Amino acid sequence: MRIPIARTVAELRAAVAAWRQNGLKVAVVPTMGALHEGHLSLVRAALEKVDRVIVTLFVNPKQFNSAADLAAYPRTEHEDAAKLAPLGAHILYVPDAADMYPEGFATTVSVNGVTEGLCGAYRPGHFDGVATVVAKLFLQTGADVAFFGEKDFQQLHVVRRLARDLDIPIEIVACPTVREEDGLAMSSRNARLSPSQRQAAPKLAAILFEAAARIAGGASVDATLDEARSAIAAAGYVRIEYLELRAEEDLAPMHMFDRPGRLLVAAWLGDTRLIDNVAMPARQGAITRAAA
Ligand code: PAF
Repeated sequence: MRIPIARTVAELRAAVAAWRQNGLKVAVVPTMGALHEGHLSLVRAALEKVDRVIVTLFVNPKQFNSAADLAAYPRTEHEDAAKLAPLGAHILYVPDAADMYPEGFATTVSVNGVTEGLCGAYRPGHFDGVATVVAKLFLQTGADVAFFGEKDFQQLHVVRRLARDLDIPIEIVACPTVREEDGLAMSSRNARLSPSQRQAAPKLAAILFEAAARIAGGASVDATLDEARSAIAAAGYVRIEYLELRAEEDLAPMHMFDRPGRLLVAAWLGDTRLIDNVAMPARQGAITRAAA
């Protein structure tokens, strides 16, 4: 069993037009390939919700901060296609960089507000690159629904904002982060970790969950996060870019746990940058305590 591959917008649009003629509902799962269980969970969720699922595979040069990072990014189209076929995804769209950004390409989609701070502060231009390619993928596929992982939580906000602001008629569905058995959030970057780094890596998630539990139990946000930063450093992470509590709804910074929040972290283990986050739904007790 093989998954059909479309390499041009024309091929993709012809397939979508045929589905549309039959009144079928279409979803898109945008990826940069190197598919892992996290991506596959998005595809499964899409297959449950709609009739036809497009998976896109494009290592988007505009969202990388360094040429070395772009060059090092795994390219595994053959393996990716083999993982998708048994799930029943309908088309793998693999555009060429020269087709996505032909000579003279001059448009950037830039989302303000939700891109401030967090990854936006450390990866200049990254979210412009993401927003630009995601807007193109939405318009090229014409999908009714798009699926994104919560692991890239700031990206999820960027994508929701751009779809709303540009009146792109697409529903954005967020799916929970998929974790390894030891708690490490799945990421294409995990493959870069040495065996000893791989052993240390899950401590990040453990510390994050522990801090979230303490804050939900009424501990001070700032003091708990200070302690968590020390614990992350002690676990072997060489640099913590951020560890912050932000509002679930609009990513506004929170110093009191008085509404639903997300605890978000980015830290480096050797040369590998890992991110993770945990949801902190408001609990009556916590709200009362913060307000008292
Ligand atoms: O999350 C990703 O893999 C990428 O940022 C995305 C959404 C596919 C855009 O290139």
